[in-house]
Amino acid sequence: MVDVRNFRYDDLDRIAEIVSSSLGEYYPKSLYLEKSRDWEDGFIVGVENGRVVAMLLGIIQGRFETRILMFAVDKRFRRKGIGHELMNRFISLSMAREAKRISLEVRRSNLEAIRFYEKYGFQNTGVLLMYYSDLEDGLKMAKNI
Ligand code: ACO
Repeated sequence: MVDVRNFRYDDLDRIAEIVSSSLGEYYPKSLYLEKSRDWEDGFIVGVENGRVVAMLLGIIQGRFETRILMFAVDKRFRRKGIGHELMNRFISLSMAREAKRISLEVRRSNLEAIRFYEKYGFQNTGVLLMYYSDLEDGLKMAKNI
């Protein structure tokens, strides 16, 4: 059973590990803290047996929109409903902030994540050509809430 809670400073090493293995990116701790500064509640983790196994970092994007910047579940813990728990919590947090829309960007080749987002009602809203550092296109997706 996963427990979803707000991130804590001492989770950051584990979060960086999950981001690096799942998203192929390594960011310094300062980046997570900077991104979460405006909305600490939007940075949540999934914990199983005392261990952080998933993370979702969301930010505020204008008055009525939130944006998912990073979302990843440790590979060994996928397809167990943990992503579902984090997404549901994030939708509730966004609604509590009176957001009307949630947006995100995902790699065009990341069909697993695209299918996941579609399941939650996200729709394709555009393409960002050569958006990633390796020049892969990004897909913009959004959902009204
Ligand atoms: N293929 C098809 N449908 C899927 C898949 C998949 N690989 N994974 C999940 N789903 C759908 C299914 O309908 C699933 O329900 P089911 O298992 O009952 O069929 C439902 O989503 C919920 O699945 P969860 O188990 O809750 O999802 P999970 O915990 O595996 O997390 C996530 C999904 C976050 C996309 C995970 O696969 C992951 O970490 N992927 C690698 C990192 C990544 O791509 N992150 C998103 C990048 S974009 C961004 O960060 C803004």
